[in-house]
Amino acid sequence: MKNTIIWESPSNIALVKYWGKMGVQLPCNPSLSMSLSASVSRFELTYSPKKPGEKDLTYLFEGKENKAFEEKLSKFIDSVSNDLPCLTKYQLKISSSNTFPHSAGIASSASAMSALALCLCSMQEAIDEMEMPRDFFLQKASRIARLGSGSASRSVFGQYAIWGEMEGQTESSNYFAIPFKGTIHPTFQDLQDTILMIDSSPKKVSSTAGHELMVDHPYADARFQQARLNMVELLDVLEQGDFDKFTHIVENEALSLHGLMMSSNPSYTLLKPNTLIAIERIKNFREKTQIPLCFTLDAGPNIHLLYPKADEFIIQNFIKQELIELLEEGKYIQDGMGNGPK
Ligand code: PMV
Repeated sequence: MKNTIIWESPSNIALVKYWGKMGVQLPCNPSLSMSLSASVSRFELTYSPKKPGEKDLTYLFEGKENKAFEEKLSKFIDSVSNDLPCLTKYQLKISSSNTFPHSAGIASSASAMSALALCLCSMQEAIDEMEMPRDFFLQKASRIARLGSGSASRSVFGQYAIWGEMEGQTESSNYFAIPFKGTIHPTFQDLQDTILMIDSSPKKVSSTAGHELMVDHPYADARFQQARLNMVELLDVLEQGDFDKFTHIVENEALSLHGLMMSSNPSYTLLKPNTLIAIERIKNFREKTQIPLCFTLDAGPNIHLLYPKADEFIIQNFIKQELIELLEEGKYIQDGMGNGPK
């Protein structure tokens, strides 16, 4: 019996943000993300029948023990054993690695939890000796990934993914993500993402704490409504190819996310002075050249620059001339839209 499973899953960048949750890891508003191509987590899982006196889980991150992450994984694996009964009978050896550095503004929880969920679902299939239809398999993996990290539910799919119930998308769900099934305009089929490393120090406030602060946030209702409207508009933009409209919505989402952090109680900010200087320069460059260039932010100070492949050369020059001095050790990571896990 084959007892080793390997999955590589990408991180994703949210274009419409998930910020605020309810119940068991369910989103307060729908979100939309683009899967990345170069920034991936690789998980290798080996399973064998449980033996008394032996550990249920042994975990290595980039070849080394990592007790904090092992504990997190162990809790997560216990929490999904009702859905994946094989987990009660087998012990696991897991090793994982990322192709991207820590705290670079790339969500490693999204890529890691989705890769792990895919491994666990494949393991259940192998033990049951029954292959599920691919759509069902991915839906299940997305649901399991969601329980590890909300945004991980979207990493199970390539290109653009929707998580959360929304108007006009009858298959959408709060429990799992779905791939965007519309016809993507060529402008958005090869979208580039250059991740500018402004600051790689660990975040002062975790995303878990940030989601919690939305519970009593004075702007919560307005925010969830704004996201619902942005979703409907942005899906239309992906089909129509209007980059100006895309920029308007995506930047509004990024700044709203950080506005929510700054106006929560207690308030906090994750942006750094250089984030704001870079944003100013990006806007000036866009106005001056009329070249399509859009920024977004995750829950951190680093900037994702989004632009069509056709403008890669000129934007790389802009980065080298005007932005590089604002970056930590001049570092940035080149990525772009990807086709999902493998
Ligand atoms: O999936 P979590 O719990 O790490 O939260 C992710 C939150 C954001 O990355 C800021 C937004 C998103 O939709 O990915």
